[in-house]
Amino acid sequence: MAFRRALKRLLQEFPNQNSRSYATEGRQLVTMIPGDGIGPEISQAVKDIFSAAGAPVDWEDVDVTPVKGPDGNFRLPPKIFESMDRTKVGLKGPLATPIGKGHQSLNLALRKAFSLYANVRPCKSIEGYKTAYSDVDLVTIRENTEGEYSGIEHVIVDGVVQSIKKITEEASMRVAEYAFSYARDNNRDTVTAVHKANIMKMTDGLFLKCCRHVAEQNKDIKFKEMYLDTVCLNMVQDPTQFDVLVMPNLYGDILSDLCAGLIGGLGVTPSGNIGQDGAIFESVHGTAPDIAGEDKANPTALLLSAVMMLRYMGLGQYARRIETSCFDVIREGRFLTGDLGGSSKCSEFTGEICRKVQEIE
Ligand code: IPM
Ligand code: MN
Repeated sequence: MAFRRALKRLLQEFPNQNSRSYATEGRQLVTMIPGDGIGPEISQAVKDIFSAAGAPVDWEDVDVTPVKGPDGNFRLPPKIFESMDRTKVGLKGPLATPIGKGHQSLNLALRKAFSLYANVRPCKSIEGYKTAYSDVDLVTIRENTEGEYSGIEHVIVDGVVQSIKKITEEASMRVAEYAFSYARDNNRDTVTAVHKANIMKMTDGLFLKCCRHVAEQNKDIKFKEMYLDTVCLNMVQDPTQFDVLVMPNLYGDILSDLCAGLIGGLGVTPSGNIGQDGAIFESVHGTAPDIAGEDKANPTALLLSAVMMLRYMGLGQYARRIETSCFDVIREGRFLTGDLGGSSKCSEFTGEICRKVQEIE
């Protein structure tokens, strides 16, 4: 067990080693899931900006529309497994989950299929995009494979249903270890475990115990533990007091949206799903069917997710140039999409980022 953990740590500290072995002539292949609604437009924007930046990335587009298996159930198509097996890195636009059509959310299916156990969402105030808060700079790290998302629900008797919140030592340890490695790699000094172990003594209790154990082994990073409700209260009062937060799945789903709201919403917040031997970066906003195909969408969340992806792949120089260009265009405010208060088209905003990225050293 100790050896396995040490190996995991080692792999986390050198996250790009998998993708590196797939490099051909210094270029790396990435699986692109353009997604539904505005997905294809914002994916194209990211591809255009990567080309303008000269990023050594080639794309393999994959459609993840579920296919019917022999048992009659819908599942992810084989193509996505083949592609991710080759590339180990994916970028994903928004996917529509039809309600009541009998298949699981595709977003969840992807996280499960590739054991993407840590969901990382940095929330940093964007200069030039005013919200009620400034100087927010925090990261939520959400356990991504279990908890209330385990999908174990059943009827006990008529009128009584039950959902199982499953927490395991293995999943809690790996996400806690990831949080501390992340903090160290990103020059952050505090990890706060967010929980309700006062009420859910066994489940959150185990999660917290794992965080404490990992904190003991990472004394260079400060460790705090806080109740989820207290975090929510303090977060809306003064979010600048928070740094890296680690928590079980459902708490992370909710708190990460709240934090995204502090900096301008899901349209500008990146996200990464990190696994042991692969990762998928994604924008977590919806498919915006009302404006799909009208060249009005804001590609920022997907672009910033792609920037996270570049860093994960060891292409930090390109990440920095693209990120700077994107933030410069937003700060200057001349080419903003409707959601950011402007009237520019997606292609105009994208074009301006492409122009800037070629100027930056
Ligand atoms: C997210 C989303 C997903 C979730 C949905 C689309 C299943 O809200 O990525 O946070 O609940 O995890
Ligand atoms: Mn969510």
